[in-house]
Amino acid sequence: ASTPGATTETTTRTVDQVGVVGLGTMGAGIAEVFARHGFSVTGVELDEDGVARGRTHLETSTARAVERGKLTEEERAGLLGRISFSTSLKDLAHADLVVEAAVESMATKKAILAELDDVVAPEAVLATNTSSLSVTELSSATRHPGRVVGMHFFNPAPVQKLVEVVRTVVTLPAVLDDVAAVLDRIGKSPVVCGDKAGFIANALLFGYLNHAVSMFENRYASREDVDAAMRFGCGYPMGPLALLDLIGLDTAYEILDTMYKQGRDRLHAPAPILKQMVTAGLLGRKSGRGFYTYE
Ligand code: CAA
Repeated sequence: ASTPGATTETTTRTVDQVGVVGLGTMGAGIAEVFARHGFSVTGVELDEDGVARGRTHLETSTARAVERGKLTEEERAGLLGRISFSTSLKDLAHADLVVEAAVESMATKKAILAELDDVVAPEAVLATNTSSLSVTELSSATRHPGRVVGMHFFNPAPVQKLVEVVRTVVTLPAVLDDVAAVLDRIGKSPVVCGDKAGFIANALLFGYLNHAVSMFENRYASREDVDAAMRFGCGYPMGPLALLDLIGLDTAYEILDTMYKQGRDRLHAPAPILKQMVTAGLLGRKSGRGFYTYE
């Protein structure tokens, strides 16, 4: 069956050069995954400070991979050597695939996609790592919405196998095929879903995380006991409050807020303390303090 509004396209593009826009926790992790699998990667940040933060993130993460025996020093050097940095989207003119991983803001992401649409070649794929915004609405910022697709990685991106591929009603089937082929090359396990806030995993996960925050907020149980219950009772690798610190409380708040506005399910109405912690700068691991304190 053909996708409504889509024109047919049969070319299979070759993807060698990858652009990543935004080198925060997710963007840096995504750049690492592609470079690790031999792609040339250009990472773009807003300014030199952003580039420096992204570079540090990459160096730390890959050093950890070496310590854990996942990479050799030579492989690490090769990986880092395949990544170049820039503060201009114009440097992505030769990218075959660009993954946008900027802040979770509709206006920011739309502006980036609109500019990329003019910069890259007509057959290049524009992917967004959004976790809750409408990919369809994001794609409407471009003149070629058929080449826009969601490519949602999980944190930590170098470790988690899952990538949710989000198709809109106008994403070209060939784009979905090519994205699946690229994800296969980087060792990820894609699942495909439609464009609804939370996609598959977050739609299931965030009600649970929010409920854990409420338990903590209402002093029903301590943070350690909430987390221990899920780790030792249910075999989760980390408890919900520790996981929120990993995701980032600002990101978690944005995801819940978007899901709540779209679905009006009170499970997703962000627990009040979440907003207070974000306002106070307690963002989790990345700021050194969230539900727990980090060195
Ligand atoms: N490259 C390759 N491998 C790496 C790596 C890197 N940069 N960094 C770490 N690893 C490997 C380690 O070598 C280790 O492998 P082995 O188990 O084979 O030794 C493995 O990854 C785990 O790393 P660590 O031992 O350092 O850490 P850990 O065992 O404490 O696990 C964790 C940490 C992976 C985060 C684990 O606790 C976990 O999976 N937690 C759940 C994470 C989760 O649920 N993520 C989804 C969040 S939701 C989301 O992301 C969506 C959204 O939109 C917000």
